[in-house]
Amino acid sequence: MIGILLGTRPEIIKMSPIIRECERRDLDYFILHTGQHYSYEMDRVFFEELELPDPDYNLDVGSGTHAGQTAKIMAGVEDVLIKESPGIVLVQGDTNTVMAGALAASKLHIRVGHVEAGLRSFNRRMPEEINRVVTDHISDYLFAPTENARMNLLAEGIDDKKICVTGNTVVDAVYQSLEIAKKRADTLKDLDLEPRNYFLVTAHRQENVDNRARLRGILEGLIEVQKEFPLPVVFPVHPRTEKRIKELGIEVNGLNLTKPFGFLEFLQLESQAKLVLTDSGGVQEETCILGVPCATMRYDTERPETLDVGSNILVGTDAETILEGVRSAAARKQSWKNPYGDGIAGKMIVMVCTAARTQ
Ligand code: UD1
Ligand code: UDP
Repeated sequence: MIGILLGTRPEIIKMSPIIRECERRDLDYFILHTGQHYSYEMDRVFFEELELPDPDYNLDVGSGTHAGQTAKIMAGVEDVLIKESPGIVLVQGDTNTVMAGALAASKLHIRVGHVEAGLRSFNRRMPEEINRVVTDHISDYLFAPTENARMNLLAEGIDDKKICVTGNTVVDAVYQSLEIAKKRADTLKDLDLEPRNYFLVTAHRQENVDNRARLRGILEGLIEVQKEFPLPVVFPVHPRTEKRIKELGIEVNGLNLTKPFGFLEFLQLESQAKLVLTDSGGVQEETCILGVPCATMRYDTERPETLDVGSNILVGTDAETILEGVRSAAARKQSWKNPYGDGIAGKMIVMVCTAARTQ
C-alpha cells in the first residue's frame, strides 16, 4: 500500500499526477492531508478543480510555529501510519508537512519516497532548505527532478542506488491541466486582461514577506514596474502575505490585489502573462515550462536549471533591482528547452513504488 502525504497548495498540485496514476492503475493507496493549508483557496479548490479524490484522513493541524506545526504533524502522521501500515510513504517538496511526515514514517521503519529530492538553495535561512536536507537524508527513494538535483545528493554522500531522475511532476500537472484550463475558464476575459499585456505576481516566502524592508522593497518595485510600462499588475495574495501587507500599512495603489486563484485560473494567467514576478518555487518551474519569462524576487534559487536555460533571472527584493530586472527579462527571447522532463514523472514514480513492493 502507498501512503500519499500532502498538506499545502503546491503539494496537492504536484502530487496530483501521482494520485491520478494510482487511480488509473487501481492501486491500493490512501491520501493523508495534514491540514497545514486549510483555507478554501489554498486547499479545497485544488481537489475540486483537479478532480482528485477526497483525502482519507485530514489531521487539521492548521498554522503555528515551525516546531509546533512540525510536532503536531509528526504525532498525527504516526497514528495514521501505525493504523494503515503502508509499504511506502510518498512526500513531495520541502514543507513542514514533508519533513515531519518523513521523520514519522522513517522511525516506524516505513520506507519513504521523496518526490522532488535534491533541490538546494544552499541558504539555511530558508526553513525549506532545512526540510529538504533532513528529508533527503532519511528517505529510501529519492526522486530527483533533474541531473543537477542528483548531483547535489551525491555531493552529500547519498547512495546513487537510492536516486532516480524522473523529471518534475509539475510538468505532468501543467500538461494535464492546461487543456482543461483553456476549455473551462476564461480568466483573462473575466479580469479584462489582454494576452501578453499584464504582469502576474506571487510572493509568500517567509524570508521576504516577514521582513518589513524586503516586503516594502517588493511592493515599491511592483508599483515602479506598473508606472513604467504601464500595464496591469495582477497579484493574487497568499494569506501569509495578506496579513503582512495589512500590518505594513503601505499604499498599494495601482496593483490589482486579489484572493489566490485556483490552479486552472492561475495557469491561464501564467501562460499568457508578459512576465511573471515571483518568489515561489513552483512558479519558477511553471513559467519555464510555459515559455513565459520570470523574474524571481530572491537572492538565490534551488531551481538553477531555470537560470541556466534563460527563462528566469534573480532580481532581489529592492525596488530598483526589481525594475531593472523586469526591463531586461521582458526583452528576452522566449524560447528555451524545458529542463524538467516530458510529463511522465508521476508514472515513473508509481512504477518504482510498485516494483519496490515486490522487493
Ligand atoms: C508553506 C511552506 C512553504 C510553501 C508554502 C506554499 C513551510 C515551512 N512552508 O508556507 O514552503 O512554499 O506553504 O504556499 O512548510 N494561512 C491561511 N490559510 C491557509 C494556510 C495559511 O490563512 O490555508 C496563513 C496563516 O496565517 C499562517 C500563514 O498563512 O500562519 C503561513 O502558513 P504556513 O503554512 O505556516 O506557511 P506558508 O507561508 O503557507
Ligand atoms: N498557484 C495557484 N494559485 C495562485 C498562486 C499559485 O494555483 O493564486 C499555484 C501555482 O500554479 C503553483 C503553486 O501554486 O503550482 C505554487 O505554490 P506556492 O507558490 O504557494 O508554493 P511553492 O511552490 O513556493 O512551494
